[in-house]
Order: sequence, then C-alpha cells, then structure tokens
Amino acid sequence: MSKVKLSEHAIDLIKEICASFDNEESELINVLHQVQHKLGYLPAEVQELISKELKMSAAKVYGVVTFYSFFTMKPKGENPISVCMGTACYVRGSEQVLDELKRQLKIDVGETTVDGKFSISALRCVGACGLAPVVMVGEKVHGRVAPADVKKILEEYSKGCLSD
Ligand code: FES
Repeated sequence: MSKVKLSEHAIDLIKEICASFDNEESELINVLHQVQHKLGYLPAEVQELISKELKMSAAKVYGVVTFYSFFTMKPKGENPISVCMGTACYVRGSEQVLDELKRQLKIDVGETTVDGKFSISALRCVGACGLAPVVMVGEKVHGRVAPADVKKILEEYSKGCLSD
C-alpha cells in the first residue's frame, strides 16, 4: 500500500484535535471522528500520529478504525455518495438503489471510482425518514430516490463524463 505523506498542515491539525481532547486515550473515537471529518479518511500514517499523541499502540487505533464501519482508511471520491440503509429507507427500496449505483459506477460499498469522482458508502438513518429512500451526495440530500433516478443523479455530478 502506498505511503501517504502528511502535510505540515495535516500534522498540526491532528495534533490540535488530539490536544482538544487532552490527548486522552478514552477520547479516541471522538478524535477519530473529528480527524476523519477534516481529512476525509484515516490512512495508516494518520493513525500512527494519533496513537503517538494519545500514547497508545497503533494496533489499538487500527482495531477501532476497522471495527466501526463509519471510519474509512480509503480516500473518498470528489462526490461521496451515501445511501441510507436505515429501516424506513430499506423498506422503501434503498437496497435496490444501492445496487443500481454499484452497477453504474462499477464499484462496491467502501470503494472509489478510478477517476476519483465518486465513492459509495452505506449509512444508518440520516434523520430524513420522511424522504425515504434517501441518498446523500456530499451534503446534498436526494429524497424518494428510485433505481431509475440513479443515472440522472450521477450525471448531475459527473458533468457528462460518465460512460453508460
Ligand atoms: S431510515 Fe433513512 S433517513 Fe431514516
């Protein structure tokens, strides 16, 4: 796996976040959340730095990152797509929407397209059950999405460069 070189800015940011939680090992999950929110993902180099700052083993940090599905070690696409798999969305067909996304983008959940434009993840309830099934692209919520809508949604973000 290729190494990620952390910028000075990223190093400072990670140190700052750890310090804001008093470099407490018990705050690991909060630290990981914040760092992922800022950097988008948690590669090994980021985990190592966090383990140093919180004075804990890198293996322990890795264990937590891989245990929880909302943490990712891979960079997300320019347009991260999240499909809600909460109950309301699921019963209204979010799985079929997810399958259509995977088919059109030719990637699986947790992966990013080769051109870096899209990634797919599955989420639990995002709090918009009235709009089920819900698909988020970045911060934008798409409600009542049917598999037939997927192509149009992707085109909206791919600026015409998506092949069929
Ligand atoms: S279950 Fe999907 S938004 Fe609540």
